[in-house]
Amino acid sequence: MPDDAKPAGVFSAPCACQEVSEEDRYAQLDDILRTYRNIPGALIPVLQITQTIFGYLPEKALRKIAAALNKPLSEVTGVVTFYSFFNTIPRGRHMIRVCLGTACYVRGGKQVLAALKEELGIDVGETTADRNFSLDVGRCFGACGLAPVIMIDDDVHQRVKVSQLPRLLEQYRDKQDTTSKT
Ligand code: FES
Repeated sequence: MPDDAKPAGVFSAPCACQEVSEEDRYAQLDDILRTYRNIPGALIPVLQITQTIFGYLPEKALRKIAAALNKPLSEVTGVVTFYSFFNTIPRGRHMIRVCLGTACYVRGGKQVLAALKEELGIDVGETTADRNFSLDVGRCFGACGLAPVIMIDDDVHQRVKVSQLPRLLEQYRDKQDTTSKT
C-alpha cells in the first residue's frame, strides 16, 4: 500500500516482493540445492529458504530436496510436519496477523480475531477460497501501547476497532484488484 494511501497510525517495512514465475522459483531452488547438497544438517535451512521462495512447501519441491540431499521423502515430510512454522498449503496474497499478546488481548484483540474469522469465513491457519487472505495470530508486535494491533503483510494497524475491519480488508482487496490489472 502506498504510504500516502495509509490511514493514520499505519507504518510498514520496505517490501522487496515482486512477481516471480514458478520456473524462476524452481531455478532458485536448484541453486540453493547445489549450494547445500554436501553440507551436513542442511535439511531445515533448505526447507526454510524454500518456504521463503514459494511462500509454502510444494510437494514437487520436497521431492527435489529429498533427492538432492539424498534423504528419503518420508524423512523430509516428517520434518515438515513436525515443525509448525512449515506450511504445505499455499498462503493467501495478504497475511493477516492478529496480536494476542497480553496488552492486545485485554484491549480487544480477541474480539478483533473473532470478527476477522467471521468476516473472512476462515479460522486461524487457513486461507480464503479466493487466496486473498490468510489468518494467523502473534504474541506481541512491539506496539503494546497502541493495542489492539494487527499486521497485514508488513503494515502495522494500531488501535484497531471491529467496526473498521470491513473497510480495512477492502483496501487490501482493492490493492490486489489493481495489481491484477497491470
Ligand atoms: S501485546 Fe500486542 S503489540 Fe504487544
